[in-house]
Amino acid sequence: MNRTLIIGATGNVGRQVVSQLSATGAQVRALSRNPDAARFPQHVEVVRGDLARPESLDRCLDGIDAVFLVWTAPPATIVPALERIADHAQRIVFLSAPLKTPHPFFQQPNPARLVGEQIERLIETSGLEWTFLRPGMFAGNSVRFWGPQIRAGDVVRWPYLAAPTAPIDECDIAAVAVRALCEDGHAGAEYVLTGPQSLSQFEQVSTIGRLIGRSLRIEEISPDEARRELLAGMPAVAVNMLLDAWAAALGQPAFVTSTVAELTGIPARTFLNWASEHAGEFRA
Ligand SMILES: NC(=O)c1ccc[n+]([C@@H]2O[C@H](COP(=O)([O-])OP(=O)(O)OC[C@H]3O[C@@H](n4cnc5c(N)ncnc54)[C@H](OP(=O)(O)O)[C@@H]3O)[C@@H](O)[C@H]2O)c1
Repeated sequence: MNRTLIIGATGNVGRQVVSQLSATGAQVRALSRNPDAARFPQHVEVVRGDLARPESLDRCLDGIDAVFLVWTAPPATIVPALERIADHAQRIVFLSAPLKTPHPFFQQPNPARLVGEQIERLIETSGLEWTFLRPGMFAGNSVRFWGPQIRAGDVVRWPYLAAPTAPIDECDIAAVAVRALCEDGHAGAEYVLTGPQSLSQFEQVSTIGRLIGRSLRIEEISPDEARRELLAGMPAVAVNMLLDAWAAALGQPAFVTSTVAELTGIPARTFLNWASEHAGEFRA
């Protein structure tokens, strides 16, 4: 593939895809609604585009062979945006979620799931050569979940502390994305990607505390109390999705795959490694 457009390029995964794909020497074009704030190295071509204004995509897609797609925009423009992508590109790698994995953590009904399923259905019938990435919980969520409390003091109040997840380092999702974008042999593949270990939320917070040299007091709070507090910083849809998923996760280990290692030849990064690289984000 010659030239790749990264949609969602300024996000947690997209920024890693831009960086790792550029390092292969591939031509990378990064899309943002606000290129002036995108902060990419000079060699990265940055274009202005908005999934909510599909006509803005035409110029971004000009001369593009492959697209990496992250969809966090409202769903109203999914159909015309995907039509435009299919008119220009041959290949698409879509950042989805483990929608088909029969583990309770991934099987709770929520609106984001419906959006993902709609996009996947359209891609499957678009004529594009497609690959779906299905990562579980991102390790980077920890900064949003626990960063504010850890930066402010030694007490972390959180619901479902026993609920396990297998947090995946966003670098590993990007490493798989780069292979699917650049290599042949990934057409029609659906890769369920997780970190290497099942860790309870308690263990994850403890790991962060150890790495920053603090003895954190980790206190369980009720889901209702958590809902009230989380709603201050997160949309209700996201709060409900998380609380339902953690509740369903209790009582069995998180779903763990070896897909990252199989595809990249390198074991998936551990949460300990992620936390040591991001420790600064938890320091006041
Ligand atoms: N967090 C998790 O644990 C998890 C797990 C599995 C799957 N996922 C999926 O991963 C995706 C989120 O990935 P992420 O965390 O890397 O994203 P993110 O950090 O939230 O970034 C969102 C990206 O989308 C772009 N964007 C937002 N609205 C846009 C629009 N209207 N037009 C064009 N671009 C737009 C933003 O770019 P600009 O602001 O520069 O325009 C930004 O680059 C979601 O689809 C989520 O369902 C997340």
